[in-house]
Amino acid sequence: MTATQSRIRFADRVTAMQESPTLVVLNKATTLIGQGVDVVDFGPGEPDFATPKAVSEAGKRAIDNGLTKYTNASGTKTLRDAIVARYNKRYDLALTQEYVIAGNGGKQELFNLAMALVSPGDEVIIPSPYWVSFPDQVLFAGGKPVFAKTDPGNHFRVTMDDIEAVASDRTRGVILNSPCNPSGAVIREEELRRIIEWVVARDAFLIFDETYELFVYEGNEHVSAARWFKQYPENIILVNSMSKTFAMTGWRLGYAIAHPEIVRALGKIQSHATSNPSTIAQYAALEALHGVDADVKAMYDAYCERRAWLVPALNALPGICCADPDGAFYVFPDVSAFFGRAGITDSQSFANYLLDEARVAVVPGGAFGADEFVRISYATSMERIQEGIRRIDAALRKL
Ligand SMILES: Cc1ncc(COP(=O)(O)O)c(C=O)c1O
Repeated sequence: MTATQSRIRFADRVTAMQESPTLVVLNKATTLIGQGVDVVDFGPGEPDFATPKAVSEAGKRAIDNGLTKYTNASGTKTLRDAIVARYNKRYDLALTQEYVIAGNGGKQELFNLAMALVSPGDEVIIPSPYWVSFPDQVLFAGGKPVFAKTDPGNHFRVTMDDIEAVASDRTRGVILNSPCNPSGAVIREEELRRIIEWVVARDAFLIFDETYELFVYEGNEHVSAARWFKQYPENIILVNSMSKTFAMTGWRLGYAIAHPEIVRALGKIQSHATSNPSTIAQYAALEALHGVDADVKAMYDAYCERRAWLVPALNALPGICCADPDGAFYVFPDVSAFFGRAGITDSQSFANYLLDEARVAVVPGGAFGADEFVRISYATSMERIQEGIRRIDAALRKL
């Protein structure tokens, strides 16, 4: 029986959800790789590095020591204390465990936040290009994502003017992500200050996702909304993750820092959805927070080296225009010069062409709300990056 013949009735909230177009090209790439085809995969949104050894060892120790039971649904006190201690030290705060909840990845806390703060009809402003889950989480909560277009000429760095241009009486909050997936854009201090003051004046919320905070490159500085948390604890919510900075994607551990009343609301939702994040992952995360600086530095250095090679190499390809991304581990080149050639009409068909012709997988920018671009992840070895660019060059010369 095919899916179209089925009489299964789904809830409206699911039928309204889009399956990510990102997956179409990536699924095709995965199938090819499974068939033994040599595909250079620029798709991954995760580090190519192993989890630091000390972190994995801590996870193993937790198992050996029988630390395999349920914990508090919002995470152990020890882990929550360690998370806030890090923020207290960096931003001169005095947060306690009541201000933090640990969950199954930053994604779970972002989802909980949408459920806790967005009511049907509320508008939430999301700068575009955006990470794919933000709009769907808002939609799932019954809200309306409203996109604030950022300027590629300004490296996609969001400004107050971008936000204000799409605001309305129904604006309930803003979701910022810096450094940004997919563009790498890092928000400037002055713009963040203006956006925070604007949000506070409207009694709205600001969700600040700093999942890629440690991967910020020369000439740029990561400015966290945590700097203003002491002043505006009822409006600012910080979301962070162990996934990217500590190469722990599969462990599923992220967290949100917010006013204790918001944290309690998130905890209520989480307690009925998943309960605590994996106990083993919580002990591993504790080790990461207590210091694996050398491992993080080694990853950072590798990303710097790859980015320094990749951006000029892309710009040397006729028709490709790629700005220096401020942070994260993605580049986001403009490929629109190829639209209108060989059946290429948008980022999806461009990505398909590269997969078919060059055996290189990239993610179409349309998935992130920017159809003239594609996302290339450099969380892969220098050798593969160079091979991928060689193949792209050959394929584009045929157009
Ligand atoms: C911008 C951004 N936020 C949050 C996440 C969620 O990461 P995790 O759920 O692994 O913590 C991701 C993952 O790709 C991301 O790119």
